[in-house]
Amino acid sequence: MKMFSVQDFCSHLTTKKIGHNVKYYDSIDSTNTEMSNMVSRNEINSFNMIITDNQKNGRGRYGNQWISSQFNSITCSIVINNSIENLSTILPLSCGIAIVEGIYKNSNINCELKWPNDIMFNKKKIGGILIEKKSDYFIVGLGLNVNQRTMDDIISKDSCSLRQIINKKINREFLLADILNALEKLITEPVRINIRKWEKLCYHINKNVSFSNGINKLTGVFLGLSDLGYAKMKIDNEIYTFNSGVIEL
Ligand code: BTN
Repeated sequence: MKMFSVQDFCSHLTTKKIGHNVKYYDSIDSTNTEMSNMVSRNEINSFNMIITDNQKNGRGRYGNQWISSQFNSITCSIVINNSIENLSTILPLSCGIAIVEGIYKNSNINCELKWPNDIMFNKKKIGGILIEKKSDYFIVGLGLNVNQRTMDDIISKDSCSLRQIINKKINREFLLADILNALEKLITEPVRINIRKWEKLCYHINKNVSFSNGINKLTGVFLGLSDLGYAKMKIDNEIYTFNSGVIEL
């Protein structure tokens, strides 16, 4: 079992800012929660990324649990200052695109995106992103199933790891560095470029999907993204946009 090497990661990182000043934890409850505490304690100038090999209480969207596997997953949070125009629209899209690009570069696997930002392969989940706003910062939590030989029973029906796809171990340090290298470029690109790239990687465009927003379950055609990155759906010949929800195929 190999610990995440911050040194190998840094040697591969070409960003100006993102991913510098990394704090590594052997074990932690949730990197997003810890990052949020760091913002409260004003420690962001010293660290802008937290990574762990053992997250014990990972959080997903909608209060779901997120299960990582020790030494096999990528489990980290980065903090980004809200100083770029339209960042709240761009960030969820660019994170998904950057992960798909980074994965391709390191494994030749073509993952796809499911709205709003699930990383998928063959309808199984490879990774997820939890973005939380705290004062002037966005906290971006990334969870990726990388080198698991098998998935935890509770999630094995719907998730898989990159290693299960190619039967080979992947260098987590290089993969994460490439994801952040791509991310730093993408967040400075205009919204429309991010929308276009995101839509190209989405596997349920123009497909019939069910959409649940916590209250209702609706069925219709997923048309793509609105200018704000919301889901655009055609339901009974009317077009609706939704800013949050869960898509099922
Ligand atoms: C989802 O698909 O629901 C989002 C999952 C996000 C999980 C990551 S793992 C690192 C960071 N810390 C957390 O507690 N959650 C995010």
